[in-house]
Amino acid sequence: MTGLNRRHLLQGTAALSLVPAVVASGESVAAPLSPDTGPRQIIRFDDNWRFAFGHASDIARDFGYGAYQYTHAKQGLSGVVASEVKYDDSTWTAVQLPHDWAVDLPFVNNETYVPGGREYEEDEAAAHGYKPVGRKFPETSVGWYRKVFKLDPGDELKRLTLEFDGVFRDSTVFLNGYIINRHESGYTPFEVDISNFINTDDTPNVLLVRVDASYGEGWFYEGAGIYRHVRMVKTNRTYVPQWGVYIKSDISGAVDIETRVASDADKTVTLVSTITDRDGHIVARLETAVALTAQTEQTINQATKLDRPRLWGLDDPHLYTVKTEIVEAGVVVDVFTSTFGVREVVFKVDGFFLNGQPMKIKGTNNHQDHAGVGSAIPDALHIWRLQQLKAMGSNAYRSSHNPATPEVLDACDRMGLLVIDETRLMTSAPEGLAELETLVRRGRNHPSIILWSIGNEEPQQGTARGLKIARDMRRVVKRLDPTRPITAAMNNGQGFGITAALDVLGVNYYVTRLQPVREKFPNLPVVATETASTLCTRGEYERSDTKLYVPAYDTTAPKWGHTAENWWPLYNATPNLLGGFVWTGFDYRGEPTPFNWWPSVTSHFGIMDLCGFPKDNYWYYQAWWSDKPVLHLFPHWNWDVGKVVPVWVHSNCEAVELFVNGKSAGRKDVVKDRHLEWSIPFAPGQITAYGYKGGKVVMKAERRTAGEAARVVLTADTIDDITVLKAELFDAKGIAAPRADNLIHFDVEGPARVIGVGNGNPTSHEPDKATYRKAFNGLAQAIVQRTAGRPGAIQITARSEGLISGRVDLKA
Ligand code: GAL
Repeated sequence: MTGLNRRHLLQGTAALSLVPAVVASGESVAAPLSPDTGPRQIIRFDDNWRFAFGHASDIARDFGYGAYQYTHAKQGLSGVVASEVKYDDSTWTAVQLPHDWAVDLPFVNNETYVPGGREYEEDEAAAHGYKPVGRKFPETSVGWYRKVFKLDPGDELKRLTLEFDGVFRDSTVFLNGYIINRHESGYTPFEVDISNFINTDDTPNVLLVRVDASYGEGWFYEGAGIYRHVRMVKTNRTYVPQWGVYIKSDISGAVDIETRVASDADKTVTLVSTITDRDGHIVARLETAVALTAQTEQTINQATKLDRPRLWGLDDPHLYTVKTEIVEAGVVVDVFTSTFGVREVVFKVDGFFLNGQPMKIKGTNNHQDHAGVGSAIPDALHIWRLQQLKAMGSNAYRSSHNPATPEVLDACDRMGLLVIDETRLMTSAPEGLAELETLVRRGRNHPSIILWSIGNEEPQQGTARGLKIARDMRRVVKRLDPTRPITAAMNNGQGFGITAALDVLGVNYYVTRLQPVREKFPNLPVVATETASTLCTRGEYERSDTKLYVPAYDTTAPKWGHTAENWWPLYNATPNLLGGFVWTGFDYRGEPTPFNWWPSVTSHFGIMDLCGFPKDNYWYYQAWWSDKPVLHLFPHWNWDVGKVVPVWVHSNCEAVELFVNGKSAGRKDVVKDRHLEWSIPFAPGQITAYGYKGGKVVMKAERRTAGEAARVVLTADTIDDITVLKAELFDAKGIAAPRADNLIHFDVEGPARVIGVGNGNPTSHEPDKATYRKAFNGLAQAIVQRTAGRPGAIQITARSEGLISGRVDLKA
C-alpha cells in the first residue's frame, strides 16, 4: 500500500446511495460513450473536425505557427490565426477520426534508386510506400485539425481531459490560443488536462492540433494524422486518473486491485470495487475508507479471492468487470470501469502453457494498415482483421513495432488471442522510459497480453551497452507489472548483450544463431518474434520481374527468412522452439520486398493481402494450425494449353487424389505440416481434388477453366458500423474469373458511405479514397461505414460495365 496509512482504513461503511452511472469501455460506435448523467462522462471526440495542410518550413503557410511560440511568447496569444473563434474554416475539409491523411495522397516516385543488384536493400521512399510525406514534402507533411465546441457552465467545476490514443507524429495541441501539450511519439497515447483553458460561458472553445509527420519512426508505412480515437473525459475533482485501476489475479482466484485516486481537497471517501462476471453476477464487493490529501494521488490496495474463478482462455475468453466507485458522503463522485481476465501464462524452455495447457504459439506480426483506410482503421475493421487471423487458426498477435491501438487489445481480450505489446524505442533515455511506462500502465489489465517487448532488432542488441539499457527498461516494467515476462526481438547477438535482461528470447528469423543462447542460458525460453516470411502475390503463380509479382506458391522467401514449410514443421517438432509470429498476417504499405522500387507500393509478406483476401498460404496455416478440415486446391485453371502447371494442395486430410478432366493423376498421402504437389500439363476443363479420411472421401475441391467475367457477386461482412464488401468476378457459368481486372463501382443508397477501396495489388496506384476500384485477380474490396445515429436500410450495388451487378441489402 502506498500513500495510505493503515489507520485510514475503515471497513464496513454505512449503506451507500449509489447514483447509477455507466461507463462504457471499448465501445466503438455510439457517442457519447457514457450517458450525460453520472459523475464521469466519456465523450467521443471523433466527429466535427476540420482539416487543412499547413507547412513544415513556411510560417506564412503554417497558420503563423512558430511566429510567437518561441519568441515573444505570451500565453494565450499563440499567433495562430485558426485559434480564433471568428476564424473561417469553411475551406478546411470536414473529417472524422480516426483519420490518416497520407492514405489520401497520390503515390509519388521521388526516389533515385535504381532497381537490380540490390534486391533486398530498401529505399526510403519504397519503405514508406511512396506517399509524399516526409522531409522532402513540406506541403503535405504538416496537418492541422480544428474543432469548435461549447461547454456547459457546470463544467467550470469539473476536471476535463482529452485523451488522444495516437497521433502521427509530433503534435502540438492548442486550446483557445494556449499551447497545452506537445507530444513526439507517433504511437504512444497521451492525455491533456484542459480544465484551466476552457470557456464555459457561451464562448465556443477552439481546439487545434498541429500534426507534423516530417519525421517518421519506422521503416514501413506509418500514416499521418490523428489516426486513433480522441475522447473528452469529464469528472469531478475527486477522480480515478487514466488507467488508474490495476488488477492482478491468479488462477487460485486471488485478486489484488490497486486503485489510484486524486482529489483537489482533503476529504474522506469510500472506495467501492465491485467485480462482476460476464453474466453480470456480482462475485465480490470491496469497500475501503480512504483519507485523501489535496493534490496528492493516493494508491489503495484491495484484495479478495474469487471462488472457483472462470478462466480466460482462447476458446472461452471470460472477462470480469471491476466497477470502481468513489463515494463521498453517500454520493458517488466517480465511476471507473475496467475489465480483466484470470489466466496463467507460463513460459518454460520446452513449453508454453496457458492455464496449464501446453500450446504452440501460432502468431502473426502486423502493422496498423489496411486497404482504403491506411492507419486509420475503424474499430470494427480491427475486429474483422482479427477474425480473419483467428479463423486461420492463429492464436497470437504481435503489434510490431509499436504499442497496439486500444481497440485491438480489447478485441484480443474478447476474442481470445495472445498479444505481444511492443514499445517503439529501445532506450533508457527519459522519453523511452516514459513511453514504456505508458505501454505497461495502459495494457497491464489485458489478459491477452502475454509478453512485453522492449525492442526489435536494435543495433545495440548484442552489446554491453544494450544490456545496461535493457536492464533499466526491465526495472520499469517489473515495477509496474511483476507478472509478465519481458522479451525483445533479436536478429543478431543472441546469447549476448540484452539476452541477459530477457525472460523470453525473441528470435527474428535466425534460429541457426541460437547455440550461444542454449549454452549460456539453458533455461531461457525461445519464441520466434519474427519468422517465415513467404513472399507472394495473391492470385499470381509465376514470378514477374516486369509486373513485380511473386508466385503465391510457398516457394519464395527473403534471404533472411523462410517459407511457411521451412519454419513451421521445424518449430512444431522442436519442443524448445515455443512457436512464432509470421512476418506478416496482412500485407502493409511500404517494404515491397523483393521489389523495393517503383511502382511497388505494398509488401508481399502477408498471409493475406492488404484487403485481407487470403493468399494460398492462408490454407497452409489453417490446415496445420486450426481444427477445421481443409482442402485447398490451387492455382486457378486458366493457362496456355500444354503448359506444365504445378498443382498444389494444402490439406489436413489423410490422403488426396487429384483428377484432371475426370482422370486420376494419382493419390498421395498427406504428410503432417506439408503440402502436396502434382505437375499437370494444362488442358482446359477442370482439376478436382478429393480428400480422404479413414479411406472415405470427406472433402472435394475444384478449379475450372473460366471464361470472361460476366457477373459481379457482392458479399458483405458487417460488424457494428462497418461493412467489409467483397466484389468477386464470375464468368457466365458461375466460375470464378481468376484473372479478371474489370473496374467496379460501388454505389451506396441509405445512411452510409464508402470510406475506402482496395484490391490487394501491390503495384496499384489507384486511389484508396474512391467509390470505384479495378479488380485484381478477380477481387476488389470496399469498406462502407454506416452514418452514426441514422438507422435505415442500406443497399450497396457493385456494378461494372457490361457485367451483371452484384447487390447486398443491409437491414436497418
Ligand atoms: C525484420 C524487421 C521487420 C521487417 C522485416 C521484413 O528484420 O524487424 O520490421 O522489416 O524484417 O522482412
